[in-house]
Amino acid sequence: MSVTKLRVLALVHRHLIPPETIEEGADITAAPWRTEYDVVSTLQTVGHEVHVLGVHDDLGEIRRMVTEWKPHIAFNLLEGFDDIVIFDQNVVSHLELLKLPYTGCNPRGLLLARDKSLSKKLLAYHRIPVPEFDVARMGRPFRRPKRLAFPLMVKSLTQEASIGISQASVVDSDEKLTERVQFIHESIGTAAIVEQYIEGRELYVGILGNHTLQALPVWELFFTNMPEGAKRIATDRVKWSVKYQKKYGIDSGGARDLPDLKAEGIQHLCKRAYRALELSGYARIDLRLEENGNVWVLEANPNPQIARGEDFAASAEKVGLTYETVLQRIINLGLRWQPESVA
Ligand SMILES: Nc1ncnc2c1ncn2[C@@H]1O[C@H](COP(=O)(O)OP(=O)(O)O)[C@@H](O)[C@H]1O
Ligand SMILES: [Mg+2]
Repeated sequence: MSVTKLRVLALVHRHLIPPETIEEGADITAAPWRTEYDVVSTLQTVGHEVHVLGVHDDLGEIRRMVTEWKPHIAFNLLEGFDDIVIFDQNVVSHLELLKLPYTGCNPRGLLLARDKSLSKKLLAYHRIPVPEFDVARMGRPFRRPKRLAFPLMVKSLTQEASIGISQASVVDSDEKLTERVQFIHESIGTAAIVEQYIEGRELYVGILGNHTLQALPVWELFFTNMPEGAKRIATDRVKWSVKYQKKYGIDSGGARDLPDLKAEGIQHLCKRAYRALELSGYARIDLRLEENGNVWVLEANPNPQIARGEDFAASAEKVGLTYETVLQRIINLGLRWQPESVA
C-alpha cells in the first residue's frame, strides 16, 4: 500500500503507551496497551511518522506538540481525560479549537451516544426500535412505571465496556430492581437506566464513514456453553475474562444463519442509527435479535475497540479490508471531516 507519509500524533492514556518493539511471536492479546501497540506499529509499518503522547490531565502537552511538531492529524485513542470518561468529548473539542484534524467521532456525536437515555430518545424519534426504558437518578426515589414489565435490565446510564454488568443486572422483581439500581448508584456512581430485557442473539455492526457510510458484515457474539439458566448477555466477565470465555464457549464471528435480506436490513438500520446520533469516523452499533426476527438497537459506540483481529477489524477483514486499510481509511475520514459543518 503506498500512502502519503503523514505526521500522526497518537493520543493515548498515559498508562497505555505501547512498547516500541515486542519480541517476535510474543502473545500480547491480554496486554492493556494492545490496541495502542497495534495502531502505532501498523501506522509506522505503512510509512507514517508517529509520535505517541501519553495524556493524563494536561492539555498543554497536546498544544505544545501541535505547535512544535505540526502533526497532520491526531489518532485519538483516548477514552476520557483525567480518568473521567465523559470528558472524552472535551478533548476532541480542544483538538477542534486547535484546528487539528483527528480520527474517530466528533464531540457532538460522542455526547449524544454517551447518554443511553438521550440516545434512545433520538433513535426512537427516527423510528429505530429501542427497548422501553426509564432513568433512575441518584438521590431520587425510583418507581417502576407500569409500562416496564419484568424481566428488566439495569445498567449505568453513561458507563461503557460492560462496567457494572453481570448476570444480576437482569432483574425479575421490584425488590431486585431496587437493589440493582442502588448498586449502580453506589458502586458505579452514575444514574441507572432500567430497560426492557430483550431475550435473543447479540449482534454488532461496524460502520465506517462521515457522510457516505459503509456497514461491515453483521457480527455475532456466540454463547455456546453457558450454564443452564444463565442469560446470554455481554457481562463484564464475558467481555474481558479470557478464562471465562474459554470455560463458557464465548466467541465471536460472522452472524450465522442470517438470510442476506435480514443482514442487509440490519446494516441499513445501523446506518440510520449512526446518522441519527450524528456520529463520524467509525463506530459499532450493538443490537439484539429476538427469535421472532425483531431487531432492537441497544446502543451506539463511537470510537470502538480497534485492536487487530478484534470484532471491528475482523468484520472488516471479512469484506477484504485489511487492518492497514482500515486504519488508513480512519485517517482519511479524519482528514476530511470538517468540524464547522456539523449542524
Ligand atoms: N435491554 C437489554 N436487553 C438484553 N440485553 C441487554 C440489554 N441492555 C444491555 N444488554 C446486554 O448487556 C451488554 C452491555 O450493554 P450495553 O448497553 O451495550 O452497555 P456497554 O456500554 O457497557 O457495552 C449488551 O451487549 C447486552 O448483552
Ligand atoms: Mg455495548
